Amino acid sequence: MRHATIIGTGRCLPEQVITNNDLASIVETSDEWITSRTGIKQRRISTGENTSDLAYKAGLRALERAGIGADVLDLIICATITPDSFMPSVACMVQDRLGAKKAAAFDLSAACTGLVYGMAVATSFIESGMFQTILVIGAETLSKVMDWTDRGTCVLFGDGAGAVVLQASEQKQGIRSMHMISDGSKQDYLSLSALPLLNPFVESGEQKITPYISMKGQEVFKFAVRTINDLIQKVLAKAELKEDDIKYVVAHQANYRIIEQAAKFAGIALDKFFVNLDLYGNTSAATIGIALDEMNEKKLLEPGDKIILVGFGGGMTSGAILVDWT
Ligand code: COA
Repeated sequence: MRHATIIGTGRCLPEQVITNNDLASIVETSDEWITSRTGIKQRRISTGENTSDLAYKAGLRALERAGIGADVLDLIICATITPDSFMPSVACMVQDRLGAKKAAAFDLSAACTGLVYGMAVATSFIESGMFQTILVIGAETLSKVMDWTDRGTCVLFGDGAGAVVLQASEQKQGIRSMHMISDGSKQDYLSLSALPLLNPFVESGEQKITPYISMKGQEVFKFAVRTINDLIQKVLAKAELKEDDIKYVVAHQANYRIIEQAAKFAGIALDKFFVNLDLYGNTSAATIGIALDEMNEKKLLEPGDKIILVGFGGGMTSGAILVDWT
């Protein structure tokens, strides 16, 4: 059987650092409140680069780390809820800039679970024999969909991109198990409107939309803690492994208290959960790719290490992947 292995990771963060104190000068908040409720100390905010620019740079770095050229890519998937445009997709823009001439390319919308969903789709294409080498990117410029007067949301998010290259291997390694699930009945927990339905044939012209993220914070919190634990148990069972076999859990970086409670629930030591949300905040589809690239760079990952990637986000979507690191 063919397996999908991770052969490269990449990330790109905008230069501009915005601290909690910086935010305290634009909304009524404080470093103490943000740090104690979320663990976030700062985030990167783009002052010029759009989602496709960050996605391109993260993708390029992942290819460099993998030691391959863009010409071998069969597919590029970009997970994002903040594309430059509805059309063309960010993935097509990246394909052009990388010069990945034989690749198909499309965007995927699964909010903060986007990279995990993208990796699951890529793994299925690889295991089926359809494709050999796939670049999956999670990229966001959430700063353009923030209500910068709403202290309940604008302190949580940041901009950035993370990427992984997946390739087919005949060895029994790489992606060992996956689980994906959605619950559309909880769609009002996190939302971001697109264009209203307005055309000459619509009778009532009064359709207002708010082009910002809105959120039921406490509902999301409870959902996240429960879901991270459920998904960890699912991918462990599918891979026939136990909690003790796991070297690291790379959970979506939204809130340190979510990670703390999920670790307790799952019976996995907190120090096995990689955390960098203090530096970048919640970059939605990008967090897990950014974390993986940092871990790779710090040489935290050895061949044979079992790690779990677990994401949750608007939709509500959630998913996990158990990786046997190569
Ligand atoms: N600074 C200071 N005060 C703030 C604030 C801020 N940035 N944001 C909210 N508050 C205030 C509220 O107005 C409220 O004040 P009140 O009691 O006078 O009405 C108080 O703090 C408590 O608000 P609440 O929303 O109940 O806080 P909370 O303990 O639930 O924490 C979150 C809020 C957002 C940190 C928390 O719910 C959370 O992290 N949820 C998950 C969000 C998430 O991860 N989203 C992305 C998922 S992909």
